[in-house]
Amino acid sequence: MKDQFGRTVQYLRISVTDKCNLRCVYCMPMEGLPWLKREDLLSYEEIEQIARVMAPMGLERIRITGGEPLVRQDVPELVKLLAAVPGIRDLSLSTNAVLLADQAEALKEAGIQRLNVSLDSLQPDRVDAIARRPGSYPKIMEGLAAAEEVGFAPIKVNVVLIRGQNDDEIREFAEITRERPWHVRFIEMMPTGANLELSQQQFVSCTEALRQVGEIDQLEPVAGPFGNGPARYYQFPGAPGTIGVITPMSHNYCDRCNRMRLTADGQLRPCLFGHIQTNLRDPLRAGQDLVPLIEETLRIKPERHFLIQGSDLGSGGLVALSQTGG
Ligand code: 5AD
Ligand code: SF4
Repeated sequence: MKDQFGRTVQYLRISVTDKCNLRCVYCMPMEGLPWLKREDLLSYEEIEQIARVMAPMGLERIRITGGEPLVRQDVPELVKLLAAVPGIRDLSLSTNAVLLADQAEALKEAGIQRLNVSLDSLQPDRVDAIARRPGSYPKIMEGLAAAEEVGFAPIKVNVVLIRGQNDDEIREFAEITRERPWHVRFIEMMPTGANLELSQQQFVSCTEALRQVGEIDQLEPVAGPFGNGPARYYQFPGAPGTIGVITPMSHNYCDRCNRMRLTADGQLRPCLFGHIQTNLRDPLRAGQDLVPLIEETLRIKPERHFLIQGSDLGSGGLVALSQTGG
């Protein structure tokens, strides 16, 4: 699958639910969002069918996302279905880890190879303040421990930078990579409809994060863990882990984009942002051929996003990243 800018798309992020058990300040409004109706969601069998159409077109890698994917029942069942699709050689999952402890083993056995976990602070009270669901911290830590125990590697830890709430922990997060094989990734906050003030007033750039981290010790640019996403990676000498930066605001990486997204209700989105999406669910339910729809979506994949600090114009009507799987 090649788009008109010569980018090869072999990676699909599949959102299995728009719901979440947290309310992270940069993502979801406290009161939640108008949730999708059950019958509008793709069933696991429908998701599998779409993967079976896309694999021969060049799809090789799938990540399961949400909302929080693990709030949907039986995610390991979906993983098994996807693992059996010929051509799919990499399955990963992004989670907030709150429900991970109970499911880590089943997910591993079903075929998930790699995990991304969101963790915005190392301090329990701050995690609660950012995630706005008290009591989350111990569950997240249990989830991370379970993930390590069942042998998930690499584990990528996503840290969204927020001025005044975790920017004084950048060094501490970086130090972890000297002890553990964690890949800590600092992420610049992206403006969406739900976080306009926060993303303007409490924005921290990865340039600043790297400057702080560079004061600890020498940083070598490295290839980083398998995944070739938008992150750029660095490493302290001899460290088991790496430090990554994801810079949607300060350094655009859309020229390397290799992905599309499938929302929980079956819209194929060629870009995280913007209005373009193709309804695959209804044609699938009507028994139509999806190939021309997928080809057309790829053809109109935008060259880049146009996010602007302090405005939701660039996000193209997106209220929260939980709606499209981040
Ligand atoms: N800006 C940057 N990152 C965000 N995430 C969710 N919303 C935003 C935002 N507005 C992150 C989550 C998770 C990943 C999937 O996206 O923290 O780590
Ligand atoms: Fe949930 Fe992830 Fe959004 Fe936090 S960032 S509210 S964990 S979907």
